[in-house]
Amino acid sequence: MSLKNVINKDNIPCHIAIIMDGNGRWAIKRGNSRILGHKAGAISVRKVVEASLEIGVKYLTLYTFSTENWERPKIEITAIMALLEATINSEIEDLKKNNVKLLTIGDSAPLPINVMEKINYAINATSENTGLTLILALSYGAKQDIANAMRLIGKDVEKGIFSISNISIDTFGKYLSTANLPDPELLIRTGGEYRISNFLLWEIAYSELYFTETLWPDFDKEDFYKAILNYQKRERRYGKTSNQLTKMKNII
Ligand code: FPP
Repeated sequence: MSLKNVINKDNIPCHIAIIMDGNGRWAIKRGNSRILGHKAGAISVRKVVEASLEIGVKYLTLYTFSTENWERPKIEITAIMALLEATINSEIEDLKKNNVKLLTIGDSAPLPINVMEKINYAINATSENTGLTLILALSYGAKQDIANAMRLIGKDVEKGIFSISNISIDTFGKYLSTANLPDPELLIRTGGEYRISNFLLWEIAYSELYFTETLWPDFDKEDFYKAILNYQKRERRYGKTSNQLTKMKNII
């Protein structure tokens, strides 16, 4: 039986973020080039998008290419960019049909023009969709995003739009590239590493973290449901005590 039938449909995380790690190791283990691992990774992307649609996840953010990934060998970067373009090209009709809205976060400036054009086309073509919002973190780094937010806030302070004493947590969040998105309830990292790698540092302050040894190309719908089931067993206390939460539940 699929774990999909075991999941509590009333407690699906609204926003799930994923660090898709392990493509390279998956391919090397099979005696192939790392690039083949990224190709297999794109198939896993499709699987988690389908699974998200099936169970009603509203936002899915995928760490597709970090600012630090620009340091990889040129041949690998070129292959990932070509794969991105080809995948968006082949999936655009399905995204439209399945009510998926595509967005990106990150600094688009260093991305190849043809990739950016394809992405912008897909963003425009899906902008009216209201089902799942699929956010690709592309050329994204959380520290860079935070530094950029600080620069933008500084400019608005200079213009007299508000004063320094009015900068609240909410104000700050509005200057990040994730401004209009809810914070993720669940962050999944595949590939057996236990770190955040400069992903959504501000937004995951209270996210539940789920790490799995499974390499990204092996990650399928059942693995995704397993992560959600694990999330559903967590007690999200936000600094309160367990007793306080029980009392609040009883009042409701
Ligand atoms: C991390 O694995 C993966 C990446 C840096 C690239 C992710 C890209 C894809 C899954 C391809 C397509 C994506 C979309 C959205 C169509 P790694 O290379 O760091 O693996 P390793 O840790 O085993 O070396």
